[in-house]
Amino acid sequence: MTTLEALHLRKDYRVRGSGWRAARLQAVDDVSIIVRPGETVALVGESGSGKSTIAKMLVRLVDATSGTVTLDGETIGQGRRATKRYRSRVQMVFQDPFSSLNPALTIRHQLTRPLRIHGIVHSAAEEERELLRLMESVNLSPAKTILAKYPHELSGGQRQRVAIARALAPRPEVLIADEPVSMLDVSIRLEILQLLNDLKLERNLAVLYITHDLATARHFSSQIVVMRSGRVVERGPSDAVILNPVHPYTQFLVRAAPDPKSAPWIVDPNRHLGHPEVVVSTENLELTEENTSVHWVRSWDDDAAVNTMLASLASAQTS
Ligand SMILES: Nc1ncnc2c1ncn2[C@@H]1O[C@H](COP(=O)(O)OP(=O)(O)OP(=O)(O)O)[C@@H](O)[C@H]1O
Ligand SMILES: [Mg+2]
Repeated sequence: MTTLEALHLRKDYRVRGSGWRAARLQAVDDVSIIVRPGETVALVGESGSGKSTIAKMLVRLVDATSGTVTLDGETIGQGRRATKRYRSRVQMVFQDPFSSLNPALTIRHQLTRPLRIHGIVHSAAEEERELLRLMESVNLSPAKTILAKYPHELSGGQRQRVAIARALAPRPEVLIADEPVSMLDVSIRLEILQLLNDLKLERNLAVLYITHDLATARHFSSQIVVMRSGRVVERGPSDAVILNPVHPYTQFLVRAAPDPKSAPWIVDPNRHLGHPEVVVSTENLELTEENTSVHWVRSWDDDAAVNTMLASLASAQTS
């Protein structure tokens, strides 16, 4: 039972600049996320908004430029042993099961490795039992037949189940799922998401679910965090964010979403006041790239501007 707490995460990438000096790209800018045991938090936002960068920092595939990540309030050191221990507790499910599994190794091999590396099993008999248990927990049967196969011999859904089993092998407490179903056939997406949800409940996992899909974000998570250009623009209980989005960008996402139940939206200034991270434009209500970089302000920078803007949005709504 572990709470993952990421505070003020930031990631700057060095990119090729126009002059002598390398330019910096702020992929993630001061993002805080807390995920509690038995809870799913959804992270949504457009392509390039920094979602995967956050996921990678949370599983330590990339180093944060600054910020802290704690598990139950404990900071885990950076050394090799500490990182191994950290990784056994925080696991990731990637978007593409085909590239996340090694094509040259059988499923048995890929699941046995983490069991051994993280010291979960200590004998051949234990290993066999644990493998069968893992296959059962992701509903893959007949287990022995599938264990003997290679990734290319499985369907996309089966492959993602194997990837989930592999993530579960070290008995993690936190699962980061980065668009876990977007590469899968539409017909099987829901069952994989349902599986992740069942596993969360059974194992009391803290789950961060990264997605472009607002409907499943709402259905499977209690909280939604909306990102744009590396920043959190809005967060709150899932129903509130979808039914009553405050930030124009969230409203734009909700209107653009195909799910008819997601719309319509209304502006509620009272709710906005409780959400210091809402970012609004003071000048131009249109959501364009220029706006974000030039005119957008954080609400704590200028509360009066925010209120003016919300009022004008509300009147535009009713007129
Ligand atoms: N290794 C890297 N070097 C330089 N820039 C990077 C690197 N990885 C990501 N970026 C940049 O960081 C920003 C955030 O990328 P990220 O992959 O986190 O977005 P995302 O929200 O996951 O997008 P998508 O929805 O398309 O998966 C983008 O501008 C991306 O180009
Ligand atoms: Mg991504």
